[in-house]
Amino acid sequence: MSIIKLLSKKNERILFTTPSHFQKAPFCNNLDCFYKWDYSEIDGFDNLANPKNSILVAQGKVSDILGTKQTFFITQGATTAILAAMKAIININDKVLVARNCHKSVFNGLVLTMANTSWFMPEINEDWGIYTVIDPNKLEATLKLDNYKVFIMTSPTYEGINSDIRKIAAICKKYGVYLLIDEAHGSLNAFSDKLCDSAIKQGADISVNSLHKTAGALNQCAILNISPNIQNIDTDTFQKSVNLIHTTSPSYPLLSNIEACISYLNSKEGKNEIDGLINEISKFQKELQRFGVELYEEENHDPLKILVRKNGVSGFDLSETMFDKFNIEDELNNSISCLYLCGIGTSKQKLEKLKNALKKVPINQSFEFQKADFQPFPLLKLQPFETFNKKYIYINKQDSLLKISNKMILPYPPGIGLLYPGEAIQKWHLDYLNNDVEIIV
Ligand SMILES: Cc1ncc(COP(=O)(O)O)c(C=O)c1O
Repeated sequence: MSIIKLLSKKNERILFTTPSHFQKAPFCNNLDCFYKWDYSEIDGFDNLANPKNSILVAQGKVSDILGTKQTFFITQGATTAILAAMKAIININDKVLVARNCHKSVFNGLVLTMANTSWFMPEINEDWGIYTVIDPNKLEATLKLDNYKVFIMTSPTYEGINSDIRKIAAICKKYGVYLLIDEAHGSLNAFSDKLCDSAIKQGADISVNSLHKTAGALNQCAILNISPNIQNIDTDTFQKSVNLIHTTSPSYPLLSNIEACISYLNSKEGKNEIDGLINEISKFQKELQRFGVELYEEENHDPLKILVRKNGVSGFDLSETMFDKFNIEDELNNSISCLYLCGIGTSKQKLEKLKNALKKVPINQSFEFQKADFQPFPLLKLQPFETFNKKYIYINKQDSLLKISNKMILPYPPGIGLLYPGEAIQKWHLDYLNNDVEIIV
């Protein structure tokens, strides 16, 4: 089916996925704007690469709201914001410590910047099958051992787990390490007292928000935030870095959407929508417990990421039944749990449908959850940048143990690598590989 036909069909699905807006937003009534507002940098329309008037003013307004030194508008997603941030702070062979649950864009940034990479393992919760926080003590022990320049991590995680950025930022500061937080999933944090503080407010040097995930903006709307407290690097370097990677034809409809989105989130109406949604979800949680549906409810968890498991049914089966019988699509699932993503655009009615469906999913009394199995610590044989354009051969999977992979194993979503090029294949990876495996020679 053509893309046009596909999109023209009525969509009956109830999506708890990104983008959260569910095909409309309170701050964007003008859906014609894609054509009406599609200009290039004609006279008086400013220039994203060197903003002097309207873009400068809009970015400045957002920067004031978020308390940043500078915020850059990006119309190519958090992916580009992450690459630009990394390019600004990492030089060839700089030592960079990276949390293993980072999105693949961070791996791509390690290739592009030719960084000297080390991986850091986040904590795990085997009962839910998810990565959780970065342990500040373990981080400090690692930073003590080497001369790292940058630490990159994700908070909140895909499943909504917030790390203690305040503690982590203090440790990074003590060791002179830049802290880059991928806050793609935490764009609402700055706008509600019921959520944790934004990464910048907690002391991160740089953060990235993907506004289409939960903030109601259109796909590809993102921002790159620089802290007022960042040391030894000026914002011109970030502008130069954005200009290196960003298209020279940024979409004005998307730029205007970023401006409108942040201004809405910062309005009374926007804040009420976020708080109302959080209240609605908390009522919903209590009610579901009576039906054997358990919600992940740790203190550091973002309530807008509804993570559930139901006694008597695996996460995969729960996801399938919710889709087949109730037309409800989750963002992510594993053998134990399913993730239903909420944000600007999630209505009370939609939550009601989710709640009723979760109650009705049949269970098998004898089914028991198995603890989830996590990837082993990666065995890095080549740096990410050394693997690019390397010669490779195909060998049989059975002979591939401890050989150097040329391929990623990357379930999407969440886009977190289980094996990256340049890493030795371990026994754990074999189940995920095809019979013919690409090996670097
Ligand atoms: C944690 C995280 N960071 C970054 C990205 C990239 O975001 P974008 O799609 O806006 O490029 C994603 C996308 O799934 C993500 O989950």
